[in-house]
Amino acid sequence: DDEGDMVSRPPVVTIMGHVDHGKTSLLDAIRKTSVVSGEAGGITQHIGAYQVEQNGHKITFIDTPGHAAFTAMRARGAQATDIAILVVAADDSVMPQTIESIAHAKAAGVPIIVAINKVDKHEADPQKVRNQLLQHDVFVETMGGEVLDVEVSAKTGLNLDKLLEAILLQAEILDLKANPHRSAEGTVVEAQLDRGRGSVATVLVQKGTLTPGQIIVAGDQWGRVRALVTDKGEHVKSAGPATPVEVLGLSGTPQAGDKFAVVENESRAREISEYRQRLTRDKAVARASG
Ligand code: GTP
Ligand code: NA
Ligand code: MG
Repeated sequence: DDEGDMVSRPPVVTIMGHVDHGKTSLLDAIRKTSVVSGEAGGITQHIGAYQVEQNGHKITFIDTPGHAAFTAMRARGAQATDIAILVVAADDSVMPQTIESIAHAKAAGVPIIVAINKVDKHEADPQKVRNQLLQHDVFVETMGGEVLDVEVSAKTGLNLDKLLEAILLQAEILDLKANPHRSAEGTVVEAQLDRGRGSVATVLVQKGTLTPGQIIVAGDQWGRVRALVTDKGEHVKSAGPATPVEVLGLSGTPQAGDKFAVVENESRAREISEYRQRLTRDKAVARASG
């Protein structure tokens, strides 16, 4: 990328933590809070990635179904996350998957922000969480360390704005930039076949700008982009760096964690996808024959 073409981009955030500590609840609560302004009616359908605005700054959230997907994405070399929110329930404290999440984030070199959740519960003990995190080399700010920590409640909405502020502060430190003036590349967050719309792939654009009409290869699938739809259901004419967007027009469904890229023409796209499909088949055959 040409340095001169680099511009600031929103942070891409994933949520990690132990089972039932409130990852989904927290994502839902953040989305609901931000959805209130500007949108008619609540949005209830599941969405793999969305963007919110806090004080005029955008933040992109990816709802990976647990850290398995995070690991899978990392294994495929698709480093998509800038910041990891580590959710720890204040009534349950640090648990095995909390420790695993810390290890994943550290291995990926992704800074952690700690969200101490469920502080509305009477058995909540936030200080115990901080002490236990210290034993796993996570030294939080309120104890004099460098890792931002915020006490929140996904249930009551307490301090969700503070959590968003912490994300923006961390993003500022990271000084995230990307070049929007180049051919688009990114990662597939999820994909499914929709009865009415055909293949629907939610992708995260990481470099460049994607526009309808372009031809892309995503994993072993390809297609001409028929439409780009935001998490708010709006059809858009372009999606720049760190934007999550639904892509319509692919021939089939790629896998979560697959990379996508724009290619110059249909025959090139077909060639790449056929080659990759052959590789997938060969691997399956090799596995079956031990
Ligand atoms: P998995 O995806 O299964 O790992 O769980 P999760 O981390 O996404 O947790 P989820 O959001 O499903 O929440 C688990 C339970 O905790 C649900 O019953 C939530 O209602 C409850 N819960 C989540 N956040 C809060 C909170 O802030 N306060 C209280 N009191 N309950 C909460
Ligand atoms: Na759960
Ligand atoms: Mg969940």
